[in-house]
Amino acid sequence: MNAKYTLLAVDDESLNLLLLEKTLKNQYRVLTALSADEAWLLLDKNPVDLVLLDVSMPGTDGFTFCERVKKESRLKDIPIIFLTAFSDTENIVKGLEIGGNDHISKPFVSEILKSRIQIQLKIVEHIRNQEEVQRNFFQVARLASVGTLSAGIAHELNTPLAIITAYATKLHEQILENNFDKEESSNTIDTVLRMAERMRKIIAYVREFADYKKDQQDSATDLNEVIESTLLLFKQQFADRQITETLQLTSGLPKIQINRGKFEFVIQNLLLNARDAFDQFEPATAKNITVTTARVTDSPNLVITVKDNGKGISKVYLDKLFDPFFTLKEVGQGTGLGLSIIYSIIKAYGGAISVKSEENGGTIVQASLPLQMP
Ligand SMILES: Nc1ncnc2c1ncn2[C@@H]1O[C@H](COP(=O)(O)OP(=O)(O)O)[C@@H](O)[C@H]1O
Ligand SMILES: [Mg+2]
Repeated sequence: MNAKYTLLAVDDESLNLLLLEKTLKNQYRVLTALSADEAWLLLDKNPVDLVLLDVSMPGTDGFTFCERVKKESRLKDIPIIFLTAFSDTENIVKGLEIGGNDHISKPFVSEILKSRIQIQLKIVEHIRNQEEVQRNFFQVARLASVGTLSAGIAHELNTPLAIITAYATKLHEQILENNFDKEESSNTIDTVLRMAERMRKIIAYVREFADYKKDQQDSATDLNEVIESTLLLFKQQFADRQITETLQLTSGLPKIQINRGKFEFVIQNLLLNARDAFDQFEPATAKNITVTTARVTDSPNLVITVKDNGKGISKVYLDKLFDPFFTLKEVGQGTGLGLSIIYSIIKAYGGAISVKSEENGGTIVQASLPLQMP
């Protein structure tokens, strides 16, 4: 039999397990465990789609086992159906409170058991599909922003390269003419090395960013560092447009557990939007983009702000900004996915995002992330 789903039945009565197995084995692969500890080992070694769990068992009881499963991020989405010996309201409520997904009273009626299992598996399937869609969606959007950025990357590299070439040529001439000042030459070499370092950083960033296979895992991330390296990709584009950037990064912020690629996406897209806010728009004062990070006092949040004095957004559109595919840019310029994906990333980490903007009055986007991820 080629069963699509694996169920794990846990009960200290072997007779109950036999009965469950007999009822379900035609439709599912059924694993059985006579204790919570045995079940834990099985969960570790097998991909399990649903757990049928007895409440009272010697040793670790069903409730404790359920709590353990729901605490483990790898396992927490596996639905658990409690098998309660009697219609004990108190236990049923407790089971649901600690994260159980449903309950069935023993002795069970096969048809009811089967249909309750089917309902839970349908929910699982639905969640998996959604996650898949989201993953694909993110990859597509990521590709789109790589596309937008890559045009700029050559440019970002060309400037330091031009400076290196000019300085090295000058130095070479001076050496040939045997006419050079030690201090001046040392300064020249300093600049050459600084430019080379800038190029190295840009290349490292691009290489890291372009690595799609990079595991989509969360890791302790220094937000300031991501912001600084992302900005490297924009320096030249900003300079070309006479946009100055101001960084107000609070030092010593704690690292947070986040997927680096996703946070890069957030910063890149906020900077792209801020850059585009100056297209066909001249503010009264000098064009500026300010990026701030701060820890809010008395709150477990880190706040990241990207502020520009660009064209702003008319009130009419403010509540549409986070809608997928909403864009005011010309065809080919915008996908309308930036803010909607940023929104789902920030939400997924338990944070919040808001936009304050006025037509011709600039825009402030503020995202907050909790230090302790959910
Ligand atoms: N900083 C900003 N200044 C002005 N308008 C902005 C800014 N950020 C976003 N917007 C508006 O919100 C729209 C949606 O942004 P986004 O979801 O990133 O999609 P896209 O940039 O591809 O259009 C943009 O088209 C733009 O009109
Ligand atoms: Mg955008």
